[in-house]
Amino acid sequence: MIITKLDIETIRKDFPILKRKINGYPLVYLDNAATSQTPKQVIDTIVDYYSRYNANIHRGVHSLSQEATDAYENARKKIQNHINAAEPHEIIFTSGTTDSINLVASGFTSFLKKGDEVLVSAMEHHSNIVPWQMLCERTGAILKVIPMNHEGELLIEEYAKLLSDNTKLVVCNHVSNALGTINPIEKIISLAHEVEAAVLIDGAQAAPHIKIDVQKLNADFYTVSAHKICGPTGVGILYGKEEWLKKLPPYQGGGEMIAEVTFEKTTYADLPHKFEAGTPNICGGIAFGAAIDYMNSLGYEAIASYEKELLEYATEELKSIKGLKIYGTSQHKTSVISFNVQGIHPYDIGTILDKLGIAVRTGHHCAQPIMDYYNIPGTIRASFSFYNTKDEVDILVEGVKKAKQMLS
Ligand code: ALA
Repeated sequence: MIITKLDIETIRKDFPILKRKINGYPLVYLDNAATSQTPKQVIDTIVDYYSRYNANIHRGVHSLSQEATDAYENARKKIQNHINAAEPHEIIFTSGTTDSINLVASGFTSFLKKGDEVLVSAMEHHSNIVPWQMLCERTGAILKVIPMNHEGELLIEEYAKLLSDNTKLVVCNHVSNALGTINPIEKIISLAHEVEAAVLIDGAQAAPHIKIDVQKLNADFYTVSAHKICGPTGVGILYGKEEWLKKLPPYQGGGEMIAEVTFEKTTYADLPHKFEAGTPNICGGIAFGAAIDYMNSLGYEAIASYEKELLEYATEELKSIKGLKIYGTSQHKTSVISFNVQGIHPYDIGTILDKLGIAVRTGHHCAQPIMDYYNIPGTIRASFSFYNTKDEVDILVEGVKKAKQMLS
């Protein structure tokens, strides 16, 4: 297989923000796991929508409404094709992964009873823990944790032992936001299906790096946020198998999600509208489609190959700093490096890096149980995208060395 090499200098020109200076230094943006930057192709789509065809969808007979509806539904189809869902109505627009997870957790209230079990992995973002805890509180179900090892890998044998006829749901991320680990979700899904448990995969951190095929994975639910893959904030999707989405009750009541309303009884719209109450983020959905076009124009194989190079280079360079420890050392990783420098609080290093124009995230990364596992308050997290360069890695490494010198 020949992988086309990315032309990074040309690609960087697509991202106006990368020309910015921060505190007098050229911006080195290494907080891509928090949110990715937006290429002009997506920005232009947003400007075009508000300049030419801003209208509410599915409602009007007028031409603008029709144009907006077509563009929005076309974006749904793009997302369907992108993740290889069987049907467009298996794609539910939401405000993002958190919203998608809450939709499913809310719906499962009517499916669970006391003593049922929900398995959640030890390396989840809070958004894939708290909604399930709330579900368990509502239903009397029990939350159990799939453990992990020091490399930041899930213990699949332990997971298999946790599965039983009581297991109704298994929830796990495809990629850990704090460690970068790519979890063996095919195995996780197939084992869960042996006990007829449903599986929800949080794909927020996978979608920027990995081409997803929900049918091949056989996931029951899969979530994606647009802003992690060069799209806007405030929009994402829930993929659900048709059979599950038909069974799940509606999440929110309102306009658009109904078939007929009387004061005696309301009947609900077909999929996907049953789950899309109210005016959605129309422009966001359309721009999400443009972001997917952009990612595919580069090609996921080329992205993955380049990001692997960056990850390996950055890992080696950072490891050469005495006292620096990396958390998350699995062989199966995306381009995320969480680290600490001995004796120095991550926040202090992050602050000095910012003074040098380098954007990283510091803290618990909304994954406190991971920090508890390692017995640390947090980490410094550098997360790389396809528009980052080895020169930027060098700037980060020099920045960390400088911070260490100043703070030791
Ligand atoms: N989930 C995002 C992160 O990991 C916000 O930073």
